Amino acid sequence: MQALKGVKVLDFTHVQSGPTCTQLLAWLGADVIKVERPGVGDATRGQLRDVPNADSLYFTMLNHNKRSITLNSKTEQGKDVLERLVKTCDVLVENFAPGALDRMGLTWERIQELNPKMIYASVKGFGPGPYEDCKVYENVAQCAGGSASTTGFLDGPPLVTGAQIGDSGTGLHLAFGIVSALYQRINSGKGQRVLAAMQDSVLNLCRVKLRDQQRLAHGPLNEYTQFGKGIEFGDATPRAGNDSGGGQPGAILKCKGWETDPNAYTYFITQAAVWEKVCDTIGEPGWKTDPGYATPPARLDKLEQIFERIEQWTKTKSKFEVMEICNPQDIPVGPILSMKEIAEEPSLRETETVVEVDHPERGSYLTVGMPVKLSDSPADVKRSPLLGEHTEEILTQVLGYSADEVDQIRASGAIGEMKQAAQ
Ligand code: COA
Repeated sequence: MQALKGVKVLDFTHVQSGPTCTQLLAWLGADVIKVERPGVGDATRGQLRDVPNADSLYFTMLNHNKRSITLNSKTEQGKDVLERLVKTCDVLVENFAPGALDRMGLTWERIQELNPKMIYASVKGFGPGPYEDCKVYENVAQCAGGSASTTGFLDGPPLVTGAQIGDSGTGLHLAFGIVSALYQRINSGKGQRVLAAMQDSVLNLCRVKLRDQQRLAHGPLNEYTQFGKGIEFGDATPRAGNDSGGGQPGAILKCKGWETDPNAYTYFITQAAVWEKVCDTIGEPGWKTDPGYATPPARLDKLEQIFERIEQWTKTKSKFEVMEICNPQDIPVGPILSMKEIAEEPSLRETETVVEVDHPERGSYLTVGMPVKLSDSPADVKRSPLLGEHTEEILTQVLGYSADEVDQIRASGAIGEMKQAAQ
């Protein structure tokens, strides 16, 4: 039994942000019915293809455990099927450009008429306001949500991060909103609208930078490396390189092999509580009692020099040796892991954080599994559907159409050809 068993999701999502959300719901046990345009489908099926004529990894890694129905929602018959889906499902999730669903005739008012219990969940780039009509992709959200202006080095341009906080991050926020609305519905008996704007989600994840923006009014941010270097602060939160972002100074330091391996680095945190152990480990026992080093405030203007000294030590060890030496002493460190190392890490396979999936068109591939583990709701990752693979099954078994009616719908052009996996 899974947490969301019995919940039916009409999945009108595409690209990344919406599909991440519905994939999470599917992993929690919801029956996710992905509606795609006949012959075309979700644009990501064909984007960044690595295997000819096979669904791309971009698509497969975002659409596990779902069923696919193809439906042209702009035809009369297609609209009928769509309305029947709205009446049958508990949740509708979409991330079209603003207004697209209204243009299909599915306004919030119409949805409520068809199914007052429906939870109608959307990802949009921006919430209500001057930019509400804009189309938005990942990096635009990172820029508008405050991430880019605070990422990178002080002397360089703004940077986007590799973590897809705008897309996958917003999908996660939306999933949280949907399960909350499902819970509220138990008492209220009513559906509601759920909106996750990408700008809001990115900002939520960047809140420590808004914290620092306000601290600036009361003086320089003395835990930033910039402070130690005597560089004046401007009027906005600056880019802080690899500074830790919290109250404990940290830095990325070179490890043995850094000259040839781009990932031979460790993150090293000089947590105040273990300062003495840090001093002993790197061979500077005098710093434990030297008044210029013994307390966190005394160290603030010397952080660069301190990390240079620690790096002299880390350069003599591999990033894993640093971990082995520091971890037992509670000195917080972390190896910079490459995607290759993550893909090959046995412990991540054991916890099913990374899983291998078989696919009829492309063979086996790696993907991420459910990132949140529920002890009573196992998430068994199943391959993504082929385009329209479940069209007939959904029309007959979920919506109750007869075989003759399905033939009529097909003849009208409202559904496309189904793709079936070779036996
Ligand atoms: N049958 C018929 N028409 C369909 C259909 C179906 N099954 N599925 C989609 N369509 C149509 C829509 O009705 C819409 O047509 P319209 O604009 O003529 O009314 C069109 O296909 C898709 O619209 P749109 O969402 O504008 O796609 P796009 O490729 O131009 O834009 C985004 C892509 C992601 C920029 C845009 O969808 C967006 O801004 N979404 C919200 C923010 C977001 O999620 N961004 C992150 C993406 S990872």
